[in-house]
Amino acid sequence: MVIMSETAQQRDNVIDCGAAPGAWSQIAVQRVNSTGANAELPRGTVIGIDLLNIAPLDGAHFLSSHDITDPFTHARLQDLLPSAKADVILSDMAPNASGCKDMDKEKLITMCLTLIDLTKGKQEGIS
Ligand SMILES: C[S@@+](CC[C@H](N)C(=O)[O-])C[C@H]1O[C@@H](n2cnc3c(N)ncnc32)[C@H](O)[C@@H]1O
Repeated sequence: MVIMSETAQQRDNVIDCGAAPGAWSQIAVQRVNSTGANAELPRGTVIGIDLLNIAPLDGAHFLSSHDITDPFTHARLQDLLPSAKADVILSDMAPNASGCKDMDKEKLITMCLTLIDLTKGKQEGIS
């Protein structure tokens, strides 16, 4: 969280993957001034995504019940991001463990690869 806090700047557009229940998003909201709490500074954007429901948070837009590996989620992100551009992509995602090591490892790798695609803008033009 400290590293994230140092990485994100005011006015940045942040995507928080695996955002529920919302702790990282709270820090991001403060860091990028997405509520406009500091009128002297530019405002950023925070978009959180999770399979689970996320309680509303002032300054953040949450895509609850969304799967980051689903292209539909990427299309929604493109609509929500100013200029369809993210400055910071955070991930604290962890798949639900099934107990089958190989399957869980596979899920985790798929998740990581999806995020790499997202940073490269491979899906739906996000850059
Ligand atoms: C460790 S928790 C995140 C805690 C959160 N970062 C916070 O600060 O409160 C991991 C989250 O990853 C989410 N997750 C797992 N797979 C996901 C997926 N494919 N798409 C979106 N979220 C996912 C889980 O639902 C879970 O809420």
